Formats: sequence, C-alpha cells, structure tokens
Amino acid sequence: MYSVFSVDRSSSVVVQPARRVLGMIRVPGDKSISHRYALLAALAAGRTTIHNYAPGGDCASTLQCLGALGVSVRPGPSENGTTPVVTIEGRGLRGLLASTTPLDCGNSGSTMRMLAGVVAAHPFTSTLIGDRSLSRRPMRRIMVPLSRMGARFEAADGDRPPLTVIGGELDGIEYVPEVPSAQVKSAVLLAGLQARGRSRVTEQTPTRDHTERALVAFGASVDRNGPSVSIQGGQPLVALTARVPGDFSSAAFPLAAAAALPGSDVTIEDVGLNETRTGFLEVLRRFGISVEVETTGQWQGEPVGRVRVRTDGSSAGTRPFLELGRDDVPAIIDELPVLAALATAHGELRVTGASELRVKESDRIASLVEGLRTLGADADELPDGFHIRSGRPLRGDVVHAHDDHRLAMAFAVCGLTAREPVTIAGAQAAAVSYPAFFSDLERLRA
Ligand code: S3P
Repeated sequence: MYSVFSVDRSSSVVVQPARRVLGMIRVPGDKSISHRYALLAALAAGRTTIHNYAPGGDCASTLQCLGALGVSVRPGPSENGTTPVVTIEGRGLRGLLASTTPLDCGNSGSTMRMLAGVVAAHPFTSTLIGDRSLSRRPMRRIMVPLSRMGARFEAADGDRPPLTVIGGELDGIEYVPEVPSAQVKSAVLLAGLQARGRSRVTEQTPTRDHTERALVAFGASVDRNGPSVSIQGGQPLVALTARVPGDFSSAAFPLAAAAALPGSDVTIEDVGLNETRTGFLEVLRRFGISVEVETTGQWQGEPVGRVRVRTDGSSAGTRPFLELGRDDVPAIIDELPVLAALATAHGELRVTGASELRVKESDRIASLVEGLRTLGADADELPDGFHIRSGRPLRGDVVHAHDDHRLAMAFAVCGLTAREPVTIAGAQAAAVSYPAFFSDLERLRA
C-alpha cells in the first residue's frame, strides 16, 4: 500500500521574516487530478501507472479507500527514485468489491464526494468516514443528485459524515447543481459513467474541468456544450500511463510570497495551467504584479508550463483596490486564503459571493480573518467573504491552522512579511496537500 503521510496536527512551525524569496522549484503533483486518475484507474481495464502522484495525505486517503474496495494499489516504480509513482490494477466499471471496513477519507472532501459517486453505482453498501474537519462538511450536495439516480444514503445530522451509501443500478440524470462545485459535477459524472443512459450536468458558473479531461484521457467520450457536460453510461475505460502536472494551488503560496516581498523572483516549473484553476494569476496582474507564463506542453490533455513572478519593488507601497464576486470565485476558490495573506502586504481586496469558504476544511472566512487580525492586519469578515486592507505591518504572534492546510500555508506567507516571527499552530496540516511546503519555503528564502 502506498505510504500515508502521518499528519500531527498539534505541531507548530515558526516562520521567520524574509527580505525576499528567490529561486526555481517544482511543486507536488496536482491533488485534484491525482484523485481523479486514481478513481478512473480503478474503473478502467488494465494497469494504470501514475507518475508524480500527489504526495499529500488527501490523495493517500483516496488510494487507501480504493485498496479497501479490492483494488490493487502499489507504489512505484519511480523513474528517479523521488517522484511518487502509483500503479493501479483496474477492476472495470462496477467492478469494485464491498469493503469490510468503513472507507476512511481522512481530511479529504474530494475523496468523500467523488468516491460516493463511484460506489453509488455498485450493488453494495459503503460507509464513508472522515476526520474531525471532514465530519463537519455538508454531503447533501452529492446526496441529492445521486439519490435521484437511484442510490440511497444515510448520514449524520445536517447530512454530514459518516455517510452510508447504499448503491445499485443507477439511471442517468439531467442535473443543475445548486452550488458551483467540481466535486459535485464529478460525483455525477463518475456515477453517470456507470449508469444506464446519459447523464448531463449543467453548471451556472464553470468549475475546474479535470474530470472531463481525465475521462477523455482514459478513452471515454464526453460531450461538452457550453455550460453542459454529458456522458453516456457504460463506456469502458482504458488504462494508461500518466504524469500529473504540478499543483497550481500549491504553487500559489510561493508565488504569493514573491508578490508580497519586493525584490523577489520565483519560478515554478511543470505546473498545471488549466485555466479553470489559474484565476489567481489574473488577480496578481490586477494587483500590478509582473507575471510571466509559458505553456510548455499538454499532459493527458492538461496544459503544463512555467510561471514566474518577479517584483522589482516598483509596485511597493501602491494599494490597488480589487473587488471580486460570485463569478470570480470558482477559479480562485482554493487561492482565496493566500490572496488574503497577500492583500495584508499589498493592495486592498474585497471578496463576496464566497460563502463556500465557510464549509471548506475549516470555516475559512472566520479562521482566516481571526488569524490575520491576530497578526495585526486590517481585516474584516463579511457574511460571504472578507475585506482586507494593506498598510498595517504584521506583527509576530501565534495563529492557528484549524486543521486546514491552506490556512497553515497562507499564514506562513504572512510570517515571511511580518516584522517578527509568526508561530503557526497545527502547521502540519499543510501535509495534506504539500508535505515539503516549509522546506521549499526555506529554500526560497534569500
Ligand atoms: C476540488 C474542488 C473544489 C476545491 C477543492 C478540490 C476538486 O471544491 O475547493 O479543493 O478536486 O474537485 P468544491 O467542489 O467544493 O468547490
């Protein structure tokens, strides 16, 4: 079994102030894409090898669940001995076996919601559990469409985990999700792939399209028409050898550090540049930051390339005001905490239409604003977003990651720009997506 990174959420990390950040790094494999390749590999015929599989705890949870469902999952062989590689023997559509134990999704909402779509089409009962943070997250958003397709569910109060999925033969569905969510769209597409007839999801606001691209890479035919995507059930998937692009959401942290510290120059190589994910770069540009992007290739239909952020200090002291709303949010959903961190040093940022942040790994609006205020930032909570103004230098103090990897890393960016060291309690939460984050940051510190 692929080794699971152990996460000690009680640990603290002290981040020292930095003058600037300099250098070139590669970030770990994309978490969203890794989950999808693992799930599709399990439903394909034959052996799939996934290079640069995301090394964090979340994607290990997906592999562990697949193992419990009778899928052979092995590490390696790695080409260079360091990049994680996973080999998965597919069992074909509806070929998973009932697990004798609950499926532990750890901290990973993507695992729970997408896996629910997979097991819903299987003629057995599965119970999906998660850690303290995941156990607070709403599952109704996937229960509604999957129930309409024919699955049955039991959940705790408020439709929260543990989530029991009573699967069986499903029928296709026409579905318009109530919340913009790639996880919901993906759960329906993964169930639809194994259902009778055709399933169609029509999104009011577009979300990341990795599932659509991954299905095509595994040989399925997916029909995309404006805001709709549809799939005919029963199409067999073909195993492949894949390479996962670097995770743009992980890259956002060192890039934000470069944007916040004048005189910085940071390049990220081999990072995914799917435009449903890169809204953060547009925000940097609107903040007056110089961003260079070069697409160098396509990996299984995902654009990949290099991003460089250079700050010569010419924009230091300026305070561009940026207002972002509902339609902007899906393309920057995971980058909002680090954008808030950046806005404490540069500019002014008002975000609304982002109430989804309240049901992420933590209540990201409350925990973020609480942490930023602890460090002396001029930050306000809004019902569905936040308002941050730069101009007040941050001071050193202790902030809490609240079991939330993106908060741990966003506060680390604050630590670089603060006048005194910042202590991040629960910093090891970063390991669910970016285990080497603090050592990479150390390397970039000039
Ligand atoms: C993800 C979708 C987003 C994102 C999450 C990963 C995915 O969640 O915030 O980190 O892999 O599909 P929602 O689907 O809840 O918006």
